[in-house]
Amino acid sequence: MDSKEHIPVLVDKVVELLVNEPRGFYVDATAGTGGHSEAILGAGTDKMRLLCIDCDSMALEKARVRLKPFGERVTFIHGYYNDIDRYLADRRADGILADLGLSSLQLADEKRGFSYMVDARLDMSMGERARSVIELLNRAGERELAEIIKRYGEERRARRIAKNIVKERKGRPIETTFELRSIVERSIGGGNPIPSISRVFQALRIWANGELDNLNEFLRKAVEYLNPGGRLAVLSYHSLEDRMVKRFFKDEQKG
Ligand SMILES: C[S@@+](CC[C@H](N)C(=O)[O-])C[C@H]1O[C@@H](n2cnc3c(N)ncnc32)[C@H](O)[C@@H]1O
Repeated sequence: MDSKEHIPVLVDKVVELLVNEPRGFYVDATAGTGGHSEAILGAGTDKMRLLCIDCDSMALEKARVRLKPFGERVTFIHGYYNDIDRYLADRRADGILADLGLSSLQLADEKRGFSYMVDARLDMSMGERARSVIELLNRAGERELAEIIKRYGEERRARRIAKNIVKERKGRPIETTFELRSIVERSIGGGNPIPSISRVFQALRIWANGELDNLNEFLRKAVEYLNPGGRLAVLSYHSLEDRMVKRFFKDEQKG
């Protein structure tokens, strides 16, 4: 297996909880490289249909290759899951899956700047609607930067980091992962810098891709597009998403 290949999370559990209609119609709203999709289709009969959505064209290409053996049972949309209403129109699904965040493929891609482990331009875009992180770092005011780092990274030294970003960019623009990483390292003083670095990278990635707004919009729409008895499964990886998803399900239960 390619070391950069994405290993899908909790595959058996996802299939067990999601697929209760082996002849049904399912949506993998974050198909990535197709790991969960493959398992969902594998759990169905020849009548099962799956719609795969992803905003990352490279990931979707890999999913197309992987899912070729399923032929016409699977269709692909290069787009955003928060537009699910447009893609489904009058169709209703028996199950919808969203496996949030980044794939290992995106993280490991040296050209995309998601990882603080690889020196690269701070692109951080998952799809074409992404905002520019480089522009933010070099143009935004200190206050706005601090707020983004605090809100989306829950980093307690956000103000100091923002101050140092503004100071540093006066010399030359901040454009790479290693430049940003070293500013965070210098901002936090002693101790292990990795947790802060990873929170700052998370914050910028979430901001750039509008991840929380997209998720909020998706959840509200997705439940409207389920058949009676249909299921919505969401895999979340950090506390901001997790809180949003749990609150949503709780509110839905209350009716
Ligand atoms: C954790 S990965 C999914 C991996 C996938 N389950 C697999 O087995 O390969 C998350 C995927 O969601 C995609 N994504 C993130 N936000 C999206 C959005 N708003 N609409 C569509 N896809 C999105 C990313 O491009 C990424 O490929």
